[in-house]
Amino acid sequence: MRAFLRRTRVRLTLAYTGVLAVALCAGAALFWFAFARAELGSIDTSLRGQAQLLASGLREQGGSVLFHGAAALPGESPAGAPIGALLVADDGRILDQAGPALSPSAARSVAGEAAGDGGHLVDSRTLDGIRQRVLVQRLDLGSGQSAALVLDRPLEEYQQTLRTASAFLTVTVGVLVIMAAGSGYWLAGRVFRPVHAITATARDLSEHSLGRRITLDLPPDELGELAATFNAMLARLEAAFTSLQRFTADAAHELRAPLAALLADVEVTLRRPRDAADYAATLDSVRSEAQRLRNTADQLLMLARADAGALAASWDRIDVIDLIDEVTERWRSLATRRGIDLHSEAPDDLAVVADPGLLRRLLDNLIDNALRYTPSGGSVGVEAAAGHDGRWHVAVGDSGPGVDPGIIPRLFDRFTRSDPARGRDTGGAGLGLSLCAAIAAIHGGTIRLDTSTPVGARFVVELSVDPSVLPGQAHRGVLSGGEGTDRVRVPAQPG
Ligand SMILES: Nc1ncnc2c1ncn2[C@@H]1O[C@H](COP(=O)(O)OP(=O)(O)OP(=O)(O)O)[C@@H](O)[C@H]1O
Ligand SMILES: [Mg+2]
Repeated sequence: MRAFLRRTRVRLTLAYTGVLAVALCAGAALFWFAFARAELGSIDTSLRGQAQLLASGLREQGGSVLFHGAAALPGESPAGAPIGALLVADDGRILDQAGPALSPSAARSVAGEAAGDGGHLVDSRTLDGIRQRVLVQRLDLGSGQSAALVLDRPLEEYQQTLRTASAFLTVTVGVLVIMAAGSGYWLAGRVFRPVHAITATARDLSEHSLGRRITLDLPPDELGELAATFNAMLARLEAAFTSLQRFTADAAHELRAPLAALLADVEVTLRRPRDAADYAATLDSVRSEAQRLRNTADQLLMLARADAGALAASWDRIDVIDLIDEVTERWRSLATRRGIDLHSEAPDDLAVVADPGLLRRLLDNLIDNALRYTPSGGSVGVEAAAGHDGRWHVAVGDSGPGVDPGIIPRLFDRFTRSDPARGRDTGGAGLGLSLCAAIAAIHGGTIRLDTSTPVGARFVVELSVDPSVLPGQAHRGVLSGGEGTDRVRVPAQPG
């Protein structure tokens, strides 16, 4: 990862510097061309001005035309470049000259060149071995006579200026590119700092250091969000790991206690020879402990499967009234033995799609609780009804003492029970309601304790009429249990 980050940092720097270098070179080239054009433009303007001055000052003397204002012609430009002027007659005679002018042959040659171009020419030429800017202008001398005025100015000074500008631009672009590369590399390093921190944190992470977090003070941009997401993920992992540790410890404790009781029973019985009735009593107690252990192990297994998303439902269309009648009938004899009135109520026409096995398990747990915590002479009622928006609910209520207020906030958490040290005969592991919540969730529903009832406890389970079509649910089950269905076997042994 480190090598990858370094490579990416270098690549980013190179890409950034490359783009910047191209942009700077293009800018410098544009500037150079514009500067060169402007310089040449000012040379041409000064040549034209001088040509005008000379043309207006021509005079005739002794049959010849001469520069009258030649004295006004500067011998050199303001920067010291020599300027020359020649008046070339149509027949090639040199009528007059001023300043360090061109050789007559060179002047004739450019005058001839200009003749084909309407007599006007402004261009750069290499004449007399020197690069020059020349201006040729046709002049009408009167009485049918004309001549070409040839002005020249060496370009050495101009070329020197351009060379200086090029050197200046090259150095500037070079320095800027080097600075850009340095700052780009530094910036890329800063950008990757959180990624480095995340990598280092992830590398050093173990089950003992899940409390570690990225502590960089980052702005709320993409990287800040990445660090925050990573920290949130660590927090979730830590919470899940802690809860798993607690779950494992609780589960071990829950299995250990009945096993110890079972062993103690057997050891006491084996201490001396006993009659058949004693052995039968011990075996009876061993059986009830083994049943409790099996129930706890069964619940733990289902919860573990639900956690792993492996508690797949086998969707089936069921008549709610049939299901509720069947479940309450199974509990009726126990209710009668305990002197509790068990009654149920459901609409005839309520048909839903659900996993019948899981739904039985849910009702069994709620009725088991209700019968367990309701004293003799009380009543337990199971009622189902259609709700709104494709939902239905089933409620189990009793006339017992109600749920201990101290445990209500954690009621559906695993191993929650009002008195953990309660005797073996009345107490369960505290897993029943968490299993109910898992089953309700699989059915796209919820379970809650109805706190508005004045007496006893009432649990309301709200479910979707057809959870198999809910997004995220359909893939978890199949209708009527085809191959590959994970049908959960429900041990139905009330009491
Ligand atoms: N109908 C009820 N009336 C009063 N308290 C209840 C009722 N149902 C549940 N509780 C309280 O909620 C706790 C948790 O119930 P839950 O069904 O999860 O566990 P359990 O019945 O103790 O054990 P398990 O169901 O694993 O055998 C119970 O210990 C009890 O204190
Ligand atoms: Mg229970």
